[in-house]
Amino acid sequence: MRKVYTRLFFFMFLFCFLLFIVPSCSVSPQNFPIIPFDEGYTPLFGDHNLIIHSDSKTVHLSLDESSGSGFASHDLYLHGYFSASIKLPYDYTAGVVVAFYLSNGDMYEKNHDEIDFEFLGNIRGKDWRVQTNVYGNGSTNIGREERYGLWFDPAQDFHQYSILWTDSKIIFYVDDVPIRELKRTESMKGDFPSKPMTLYATIWDASNWATNGGKYKVNYKYAPYVAEFTDFVLHGCSVNPIDHVTTNCDNTAQISDNVSFGVTPLEKIKMENFRLKHMTYSYCYDRIRYKVPLPECVINPQQDERLRKFDPVTFGNGRRHRRGKRHHRGKDNQAEDAASF
Ligand SMILES: *[C@@H]1O[C@H](CO)[C@@H](O)[C@H](O)[C@H]1NC(C)=O
Ligand SMILES: *[C@@H]1O[C@H](CO)[C@@H](O)[C@H](O)[C@H]1NC(C)=O
Repeated sequence: MRKVYTRLFFFMFLFCFLLFIVPSCSVSPQNFPIIPFDEGYTPLFGDHNLIIHSDSKTVHLSLDESSGSGFASHDLYLHGYFSASIKLPYDYTAGVVVAFYLSNGDMYEKNHDEIDFEFLGNIRGKDWRVQTNVYGNGSTNIGREERYGLWFDPAQDFHQYSILWTDSKIIFYVDDVPIRELKRTESMKGDFPSKPMTLYATIWDASNWATNGGKYKVNYKYAPYVAEFTDFVLHGCSVNPIDHVTTNCDNTAQISDNVSFGVTPLEKIKMENFRLKHMTYSYCYDRIRYKVPLPECVINPQQDERLRKFDPVTFGNGRRHRRGKRHHRGKDNQAEDAASF
């Protein structure tokens, strides 16, 4: 009898070890140092609508009739972990877009890279939606958008939004939940972002597409629209823009793949739960746009079924009479244009 208990104990121990100890072998990027605004960023446009708090840790970006506003990192980065806590404008925000993204569109006109978090405003009483997207080497005709609702009201409090970008994967986080993991595959070729990028945060008027495809526009009666940013983390290898040699890249700061950054098994469960509850669009399931999903797509049958029920036209088997319909591509090209100031 005693022996059975001993054995049971041993297996329970082993199980717990596997469940809790092994996942923590992966490095969680959430503990990188927070820096003051000035240390990492500089105003980009709409200076009169950018207010730096006296503590120099919090910044307001606002949109009014005169202009939006934005800031950019001093440095270019090749890989890294980039994070900010953001509180979005409240009440009526249709047509308003807040973006937190990496891009090198100003350096590479034809073959730029981009990794986006975009927050799309809404009419009163309806929630903000979040969109993520990735472009590599000018792949703007191949969108890789996903959209989600959130499990909280992002206009009520600050929440942390983060992008982890390594050689082999891109992970988007909301607070401590990974919401999307894009693994680089051979088939993606140049479509995976691989050149140094600048980090940007902006607020702007996207009346022509952001809310119900442009049906609801920005209403300046409710202006100024104010987005607050704080808890800045810029943890990556900064790159000299002239010769592209990496600097400030001591070993502990390096985001390399032998430090196994990634989604732990526990986080993966959270991620899948999030996606099965809150995802409202993914290019991988859009049968109108891609008759055959792009090769990096891993189709989850449960998700497939769920999205098909949610929007049979987009995620069903591409009904013929809808195929010619104006769809995401035109809309997203506009998003793209507007996002790369
Ligand atoms: C990126 O685009 C440029 C110009 O279009 C091309 O010459 C280059 O081969 C591409 N790189 C990759 C990795 O696909
Ligand atoms: C990562 O791996 C490379 C070779 O694979 C090695 O040279 C380098 O020292 C490693 N870096 C760290 C931080 O372990």
